Amino acid sequence: MIELEKNYVPVVWVTGATKGIGLAIANAFAVIGCKIILSGRNKSQLEINAGKIIDQGGYALPLACDITSEISVRSAMATITKKVGGVDILVNNAGVTVFESFEKTTVKEFDQIVDTNLRGYFLCTKAVLTSMLKQKKGYIFNIHSVAAITTFNNSSVYSASKAGALALSKCLRAEVRKKGIRVIDILPGAVETDMWDKPTRRKFHAKMIQPEDVADAVVSIFCQPQRMTTDEIVLRPVEGDL
Ligand SMILES: NC(=O)c1ccc[n+]([C@@H]2O[C@H](COP(=O)([O-])OP(=O)(O)OC[C@H]3O[C@@H](n4cnc5c(N)ncnc54)[C@H](OP(=O)(O)O)[C@@H]3O)[C@@H](O)[C@H]2O)c1
Repeated sequence: MIELEKNYVPVVWVTGATKGIGLAIANAFAVIGCKIILSGRNKSQLEINAGKIIDQGGYALPLACDITSEISVRSAMATITKKVGGVDILVNNAGVTVFESFEKTTVKEFDQIVDTNLRGYFLCTKAVLTSMLKQKKGYIFNIHSVAAITTFNNSSVYSASKAGALALSKCLRAEVRKKGIRVIDILPGAVETDMWDKPTRRKFHAKMIQPEDVADAVVSIFCQPQRMTTDEIVLRPVEGDL
């Protein structure tokens, strides 16, 4: 198991930590001894997830936060600052999609997807960035998707939101990398989570990667030697995209 340096207890804020990839990342950082802030909209599920980390002897704070709301994100950040001082590692993970043709996708769905996957990443990053710049250190992991760089049917708005977030992230990295901030882009292929309906999960189970696989990759990047960073990583099932 990877171990942290003595007396170094980083605070990790994972958005979308009620389930799926976000929960796996929260648990993986808890295992190496980090303090975990789990956020999402489903407060009772966050409390259950945090309780499990606490039962294992870790620190976890469940925090209701809708990343599409600037007020909600600001309020979450204020609570984090009050409770634990600040954020060392932000994991922008919360995301949504609809599998629908361009023609059938509604304006409401467009707004929800872009507000979450692009604007939400912007809001959460803004919430932590000034303090990270002051400290001259920090990690921002952005969970994108291979949809940002690949053409898929019935995923036009999702792909656009992920491509936008990836572009945002690349520009941010160029601005802050000489100031001690690591911005790390993770592009997973199909991961077996609730993002997919049950029949699809059943059919493609053997061809999907698991949330824990993504979490292991994130934590191992965090544990790389301080002299290096990973700018971008693509994680695909062995056989490629579905
Ligand atoms: N599954 C895949 O195949 C796959 C592949 C590549 C990339 N990704 C990306 O990985 C990330 C996690 O996806 P997943 O597969 O783990 O999906 P998931 O199981 O559906 O989980 C999505 C998470 O996002 C949270 N969320 C959604 N809208 C939110 C909002 N407005 N504010 C705060 N939290 C919100 C949900 O919590 P609440 O409902 O409690 O808010 C939930 O915790 C997403 O960015 C997704 O695009 C997934």
